[in-house]
Amino acid sequence: MGWLLLSVLTLSLSIAMASDSTAMLDLAKAINPVANLGWTGSDPCNWKNVDCTNGRVTAIRLPGQNLKGTLPSSINSLSMLSILTLQGNSLSGPLPSFSGMSSLQTLYLDGNQFSSIPGDFFRGLTSLQNVSLDDNPFEQWLLPSDLASADGLVLFSASNASIGGSIPEYFGGLQSLESIRLSYNNLTGGLPASFDKSSLKNLWLNNQRGPMLSGSIMVLGNMTFLTQVWLQTNGFSGSIPDLSGCKSLFDLQLRDNALTGLVPSSLMELQSLMNVSLRNNKLQGPYPQFKDGIKVDNGKLNDFCRYDPGVPCDDRVMVLLEIAAGFGYPAAVADAWSDNDPCSNWLYVTCDPQKKNITVLNFANAKLSGTISPSIGKLSSLRSLILSNNNLTGKIPDVLASMPNLQSVDVENNDLFGEVPNFRKEVTLKTDGNPLLGTTPAPGRGGSGSGSSGGSNSTTPSGMPTTSSITGSGSPTGVIVGVAVGLAVLMLIGVGVIYCVRKKRHQKFRRVQNPPSLLNGGSVPSDLQSIKVELSSLNGNGNASEQHSRASSGPHMGEAAGGSMVISIQVLRLVTNNFSEENILGKGGFGVVYKGELHDGTKIAVKRMEAGVMGKGMNEFQAEIGVLTKVRHRHLVALLGYCVEGNERLLVYEYMPQGTLGQHLFDYAQNGYPPLSWKQRLTIALDVARGVEYLHSLAQKSFIHRDLKPSNVLLGDDMRAKVSDFGLVKLAPDGKYSVETRLAGTFGYLAPEYAVTGRVTTKVDVFAFGVILMELITGRRALDESQPEDSMHLVTWFRRVIANKEKIGKVIDPVIDLDEETYKSICTVAELAGHCTAREPHQRPDMGHAVNVLSPLVQQWKPTSTEDEDCFGIDLDMPLAQVLKRWQANEGTSTMTLMEETSNASIPPKPYAENFLSKDGR
Ligand SMILES: *[C@@H]1O[C@H](CO)[C@@H](O)[C@H](O)[C@H]1NC(C)=O
Ligand SMILES: *[C@@H]1O[C@H](CO)[C@@H](O)[C@H](O)[C@H]1NC(C)=O
Ligand SMILES: *[C@@H]1O[C@H](CO)[C@@H](O)[C@H](O)[C@H]1NC(C)=O
Ligand SMILES: *[C@@H]1O[C@H](CO)[C@@H](O)[C@H](O)[C@H]1NC(C)=O
Ligand SMILES: *[C@@H]1O[C@H](CO)[C@@H](O)[C@H](O)[C@H]1NC(C)=O
Ligand SMILES: *[C@@H]1O[C@H](CO)[C@@H](O)[C@H](O)[C@H]1NC(C)=O
Ligand SMILES: *[C@@H]1O[C@H](CO)[C@@H](O)[C@H](O)[C@H]1NC(C)=O
Repeated sequence: MGWLLLSVLTLSLSIAMASDSTAMLDLAKAINPVANLGWTGSDPCNWKNVDCTNGRVTAIRLPGQNLKGTLPSSINSLSMLSILTLQGNSLSGPLPSFSGMSSLQTLYLDGNQFSSIPGDFFRGLTSLQNVSLDDNPFEQWLLPSDLASADGLVLFSASNASIGGSIPEYFGGLQSLESIRLSYNNLTGGLPASFDKSSLKNLWLNNQRGPMLSGSIMVLGNMTFLTQVWLQTNGFSGSIPDLSGCKSLFDLQLRDNALTGLVPSSLMELQSLMNVSLRNNKLQGPYPQFKDGIKVDNGKLNDFCRYDPGVPCDDRVMVLLEIAAGFGYPAAVADAWSDNDPCSNWLYVTCDPQKKNITVLNFANAKLSGTISPSIGKLSSLRSLILSNNNLTGKIPDVLASMPNLQSVDVENNDLFGEVPNFRKEVTLKTDGNPLLGTTPAPGRGGSGSGSSGGSNSTTPSGMPTTSSITGSGSPTGVIVGVAVGLAVLMLIGVGVIYCVRKKRHQKFRRVQNPPSLLNGGSVPSDLQSIKVELSSLNGNGNASEQHSRASSGPHMGEAAGGSMVISIQVLRLVTNNFSEENILGKGGFGVVYKGELHDGTKIAVKRMEAGVMGKGMNEFQAEIGVLTKVRHRHLVALLGYCVEGNERLLVYEYMPQGTLGQHLFDYAQNGYPPLSWKQRLTIALDVARGVEYLHSLAQKSFIHRDLKPSNVLLGDDMRAKVSDFGLVKLAPDGKYSVETRLAGTFGYLAPEYAVTGRVTTKVDVFAFGVILMELITGRRALDESQPEDSMHLVTWFRRVIANKEKIGKVIDPVIDLDEETYKSICTVAELAGHCTAREPHQRPDMGHAVNVLSPLVQQWKPTSTEDEDCFGIDLDMPLAQVLKRWQANEGTSTMTLMEETSNASIPPKPYAENFLSKDGR
């Protein structure tokens, strides 16, 4: 028995040794020159610079040997290799995967010419301790989640290595990690909150290229092991934290950011500090005075009250800065208050004619968040305090009630709560638009309500709303907390899963974790990797037993998200200012649409269904919505959530800032828009065609829009279009909202057979699309009563006129700039419009045809870059049929995976593409 075991062991050892030899010979072949390396003989264990233990290769040390060539893919069979140092050579080509090299501890590859790093490079490298990849011309890549399992990692150095994305949260959880060096990359987002638990000493994140790192640096205050911190040349904001706990910090580089607030005196007193730079921020208050012998570069270019070290500021300045602290020292306030005399025309501040006493503070519409500081009470000369239309939370400080000269207080439209202090009768008090004012705060909301803790503490480093900042506007019951978190998660997910990849032909895989939407004007929150999206299954008969369930594993999201797209009516009331008139975006066939705004400024559109329109029962409604939320395409307005409470039925959509196509096409002058160019009209037409084509092709769930018209085509800031309101007709009770009732509103768009028989096929949408094309060409409405009888009905008139090709000029919108190319393009579209509006449904093309006709026209107007084409989940270049196959195949699984097969299948996936397969949220 023992013998057998021994021989098995021996056998497997000799196999391993043989494969080590093979890998080493491959390596010797792939790099050059090997002549002077001393690699002679057939046993690599006898080669110079190579160490072996028990016949297995354990170390290869070749730094600075002028080596050229590439690394062979067999290198990862060196499973006992623990040290590989190849830094300072000229090795090039793509790095092979190192996955599985579970003994590797030290890996130095910096200062070479490697061109890319595969997504599974770090998979299974669980023994890693020191890694350097700096100064390689990699293609942009993201830090993969595989690194999270290298829990002995000490040094991770990859400056100037083309890393994109954000700093992963898991770095904070790696207990041995001492050094992170990621300068000169393309990182965005904030410092991970998990850093507060780390033992990091050395943090180099300076000089990010591109949009840079941003958000608060508060977490540094909790990183007590820090010795060297390089954050210069980024976009960090908020104030400098109390670093008195960082007793070993000797080098702190904060210059060239957007930091605000006072330089904490604890920093100036920090014993260990040797070198500090603060230049070019928005720091305020007295000019900092550091101990002698410290190398300081705090220079100019801040907003200090004066530039004499240690000389205090005017008392009024200090009071105003305390007030600014309540707001979290906003950058705009720092910019506006940068000398020592608040009565010298400071923005927000008005003084008496003697220019001595402050009489008015007017912060209306100043985009403030945070709290109202009780320090306002120190301005005894103050007569008027205006804080309306901000996002302030907390209480109105009691001290305001005892201010002798105060005559008016306006805090309208904020998120204040708590008792209103007992002001004198003479004081004019305006408090409307604070739904929670007069209530006691929910237990555990954490807001002290006053004091100097400002927005900087209620905001995560990445600037995304935290639980507490959202619940700052919650209801007294506390129940709302979960819902608000849910909403926050929803918003995060809404924006979070957008990714933008410069797609190349040979990039094969991508995963759409969750469909895209552009809630946040396209900006991507930083800590995406913390979000997991799970789309739970719909069961086969389309009867959704549960809606999309979405959970978050992000540390500040906790478990509360639970997982549905249900949003409570309180939250929707809150974000729409109680469905106020001013928030109305429009009224449509199904109800009124309100604009909603979350704490962080993220906008949503809330459609409140007309009572009675939604006749269906709750379960049926939810089932239908469950399906609608699953329909995702970048030219369809995404449904983000819904609310069913009592008779209320509300739908939450992504917000489309430019409103409807109708507003830009017909009413542009009233709305102050420029007229749409032909190029814009063409692009919009193609977007609509693509959106509708997608709807039509959803197999067994095939959607027919049935109400396609310019007011259902919404535009983003880039003037790209998305179709809205699809699927809603189906929600209406049978019969109630069908042909008869809708005839009036949308007459001009109804296909004849639909109008007459109510028979619905996809060709009904094709007809309506044809009408939209006619409107784009003519700038005239489908039904225009201001026109003479014979041209009132656009379709009839248009078809009649263009029957004679010579007369086509007659129908073209006079505001379109006509040149020969435009004219040709219009002729083609006019022909398509005619085709789409053919009397008989079977004579009309399908939407795919429209897409095929329009895309080359759009292409011809395009600049060479097609970058924006790739910024939204679903891939245009992928044949639709394939998208659908995947979509269907994955119905019932947890995520949608889209796979693109190309002829170039042998090229390994690009690292960032690979990341999408392996990572949470991105
Ligand atoms: C790993 O990096 C740390 C921190 O820079 C350093 O102190 C240590 O000597 C390195 N270890 C090895 C084996 O290179
Ligand atoms: C970045 O690395 C490249 C080589 O890939 C080198 O030429 C360049 O000087 C480095 N830049 C910085 C700022 O270190
Ligand atoms: C940074 O990344 C963004 C998005 O990934 C990209 O568009 C941009 O070109 C990158 N910038 C640099 C300097 O690499
Ligand atoms: C820092 O630590 C304090 C207490 O030690 C904690 O209350 C606070 O939340 C921490 N801050 C961050 C940003 O981790
Ligand atoms: C400024 O206000 C103080 C306190 O209200 C008052 O005593 C003083 O007279 C005022 N000064 C001027 C110049 O109005
Ligand atoms: C609330 O904050 C966002 C950005 O943080 C801002 O865009 C919005 O205007 C603010 N709301 C009000 C009423 O000022
Ligand atoms: C943030 O909160 C901590 C305690 O949690 C407090 O000591 C600190 O002053 C606050 N920072 C600001 C800028 O308000």
